[in-house]
Amino acid sequence: MCGIVGYVGPRSAQDTVIDGLRRLEYRGYDSAGVAVVSGGDLHVEKRAGKLANLEKVLDEESLPTAGIGIGHTRWATHGPPNDVNAHPHTGGARRIALVHNGIIENFVELRDRVEDDDHELLSDTDTEIVAHLVELQVESGFDLTTAMQRVCQQLDGAFTLVAIDSEDPDTVVAARRNSPLVVGLGEGENFLGSDVAAFIEFTREALELGQDQIVVMTRDHVEVTDFWGRPVEAKRFHVDWDLSAAEKDGHDWFMRKEIFEQPRTVADSLIGRRTKSGQLQLDEMRLADEELRDVDKIIIIACGTSFYAGMVAKYAIEHWTRTPVEVELASEFRYRDPIIDATTLIVAISQSGETADTLHAIMHARAQKAKVLAICNTNRSSIPRESDAVIYTHAGPEIGVASTKGFLTQLVACYLLALYIAQVKGTRFGDEIDEIMEQLEAMPDHIETVLGSAATVYDLARAHVGTRSVLFLGRHAGYPVALEGALKLKELAYIHAEGFAAGELKHGPIALIEEGLPVLCVVPPKGRDQLHGKMLSGIQEVRARGARTICLAEEGDASIEPYADVLIRLPKVPVLLQPLVAIVPLQLFACELATALGHDVDQPRNLAKSVTVE
Ligand code: G6P
Repeated sequence: MCGIVGYVGPRSAQDTVIDGLRRLEYRGYDSAGVAVVSGGDLHVEKRAGKLANLEKVLDEESLPTAGIGIGHTRWATHGPPNDVNAHPHTGGARRIALVHNGIIENFVELRDRVEDDDHELLSDTDTEIVAHLVELQVESGFDLTTAMQRVCQQLDGAFTLVAIDSEDPDTVVAARRNSPLVVGLGEGENFLGSDVAAFIEFTREALELGQDQIVVMTRDHVEVTDFWGRPVEAKRFHVDWDLSAAEKDGHDWFMRKEIFEQPRTVADSLIGRRTKSGQLQLDEMRLADEELRDVDKIIIIACGTSFYAGMVAKYAIEHWTRTPVEVELASEFRYRDPIIDATTLIVAISQSGETADTLHAIMHARAQKAKVLAICNTNRSSIPRESDAVIYTHAGPEIGVASTKGFLTQLVACYLLALYIAQVKGTRFGDEIDEIMEQLEAMPDHIETVLGSAATVYDLARAHVGTRSVLFLGRHAGYPVALEGALKLKELAYIHAEGFAAGELKHGPIALIEEGLPVLCVVPPKGRDQLHGKMLSGIQEVRARGARTICLAEEGDASIEPYADVLIRLPKVPVLLQPLVAIVPLQLFACELATALGHDVDQPRNLAKSVTVE
């Protein structure tokens, strides 16, 4: 949720930190701040609002030249997003400056201790208390590293902390627990970031920090220890991301760019999943086939868009493997005393791999001996690291706060998992699995076809600028699509939107229908079941009551024509795979409507890309 940057080296600390913050702003944009040490003093500038506000102030008067600095972009937890609550925070004597991502759970007790020591606190944040605690330690004679160790030993909760000391202008010290932090290794300079985007412009060599570790960084040296100062080995890795992946590629929004990348990302997420002999293989999967065979129940846990991917997964896994699946919001999971044991497989879906609700849910599950498999887009993030197995979705960095390509590639990973379990348990024959894989491999072309009619969807979106409410209906795998379509509209256009299972309409929601209300209907493909006919009845019912029906239906389905005020065509695909194409017009609709309303599509109000607090 917050973005953190640290730097020590020959470059301008202010510029390097601001560059890093620009690439991390997707993590939160309630305020931004930077601190440097120069001439034996701390210099801090921070402003409420987006990074641009801070940059404007620094353009007028920059901080003194310095080779050491830290920075922060905030998603507010403790205290409103104003200048005072912005990070960095300093100790009472302004010797220590510190930035923080996460929540200190025992901050009330610590605050009392700090206040008893006659320290005046200026902000409402838990972070300022930590700055005071670290400063108390250095003032009593400990160096910054030891001070950080001694303070971390007292903290409960989740935190990444980065601190500098005006009396030690060569050293940046950082700590992490349950919150992300990576080190960028340069030549005669070193970097810190919440993720590698903060420094890939400067170096691609990086260190991954483990839980409860502290890193001490000077220009030429990086040392990692635990909270008690015992040296630990940190894992070095090379970042092979393309820097252009973090840029907009000619689109007005990252989100629009990411929507149009979907044919490629879906194709990428399918690469290398079959052996030459046609067997499905999941390389990063660290669960043995025997373990999978023993699984008698699957619980999928996730939040937001990832939760809707999980709902689609339930249909696929149960249908192809006959294994019972529950789908649960991660934030609810561990508080209801779930029944899990060693034969339960927990599937945690998370684009960022850092969502606190999901992370804590899997920790709870593992404590009860359940096996945990993560479906995740972010290599080496916390959720895959805390899991027994992982399927990476290979969507590349997703910058737009509202997930799009993340969702589609999660769906692919869920289908692959379902088919893999079917292969291991023998619930589907090899030729059936082959056939579905071929259908999946055709999806990038189908998604491209849907994107080809973006202009029609844009016209439709612009015609809805004055709309205050939109309903979305779906059935079967189209039901989560309706929910996700409604979520996209809420997130981006700030319009009231709700998704319903079409069959449930008559049990209440139909009372909402009034003259002219737009109702977006995801029509299932015509098949051997009765889904299609039942959906048609639902559409007729709302239309008879004055709704304006906007129907997404497969090519060649003429039966829908009399009941659709607007008809958007989808390629012919099997019902279980239809979410991969049906969600695309709904993403385009929300993106364009929000643009027409003048909203910031990449950074919608009140949201953050990854929510690292519960
Ligand atoms: C936040 C984002 C959503 C996302 C959800 C889950 O709320 O704004 O777009 O779906 O977190 O994130 P995850 O990274 O765990 O998939």
